[in-house]
Amino acid sequence: MQPIGIFDSGIGGLTVFRSIAEQLPGYDYIYLGDNSRAPYGNRSFNTIHQYTWECVQWLFKQGCPLIILACNTASAKALRNIQQLDMKGLDSSKRVLGVIRPTAEVIGNYSTTKEIGVLGTTGTVQSESYLMEIQKFFPELEVYQQACPLWVPLVESGEYEKPGSDYFIKEYLDEIMAKSANIDTLLLACTHYPLLMDKIKAHLPANVNVIAQGDIVAKSLVDYLQRHPELEQKLTKEGTRKFYTTTDDTSEFNHHASRFFSAPVTSEFVSVTEFGCK
Ligand code: DGL
Repeated sequence: MQPIGIFDSGIGGLTVFRSIAEQLPGYDYIYLGDNSRAPYGNRSFNTIHQYTWECVQWLFKQGCPLIILACNTASAKALRNIQQLDMKGLDSSKRVLGVIRPTAEVIGNYSTTKEIGVLGTTGTVQSESYLMEIQKFFPELEVYQQACPLWVPLVESGEYEKPGSDYFIKEYLDEIMAKSANIDTLLLACTHYPLLMDKIKAHLPANVNVIAQGDIVAKSLVDYLQRHPELEQKLTKEGTRKFYTTTDDTSEFNHHASRFFSAPVTSEFVSVTEFGCK
């Protein structure tokens, strides 16, 4: 089997996986959530790099020739090192792709006022990766950022479905909307945040677009595979989907994944720490 690997610090990447599976249904997939070490967002550069590289190596070991880092924090903090340093000396046909560039390539198209807000983890915001990438494609765009450090813990703990979460959701939205009255588009630059979509929309004026990345990343992957037939031909296409988590109690993961895919999902526990960091 040569599946497509999809990685996130936890369950957030399922929002991307669902879109990818819809747009590319025939392929084999392995999803890995590093739930036992999530959230990544407040961790140091070195730690995020180490954890992500361990997970990437585990996915390579499962036979994945192509891995999507469906995690903005890992894409911002670890992708460059993995692509440019860690993968040197490995089979050069292997690929690891992130979610920031495909999003930056199109996000300006959603805004009329040309003022947008980017909501992400502390790590993603501090890296300024979105500011740099968006500048390349939409230099005229005014980009405001807001870190939302409590949103990933709310999602990972399951607390986001309870009424108390509204206080923390509104708090960060008020902060970003106060930065400019002209913001007409908010990008959810963390793959966990689409789980809060209904609550986020409820706290915003109706004229503000709220953009999740799943469909953007999936469309970009469709395009990537068309442009890289040598990689596309390697990928096996039996339509299998396997789910793994680094948490030994898999029940919470199964609950979320089953809801996402509207079918029972049974994940398996794996340990990735055997790989250490190079
Ligand atoms: N889903 C990850 C992202 O897109 C969450 C990071 C975290 O674990 O804090 O950034």
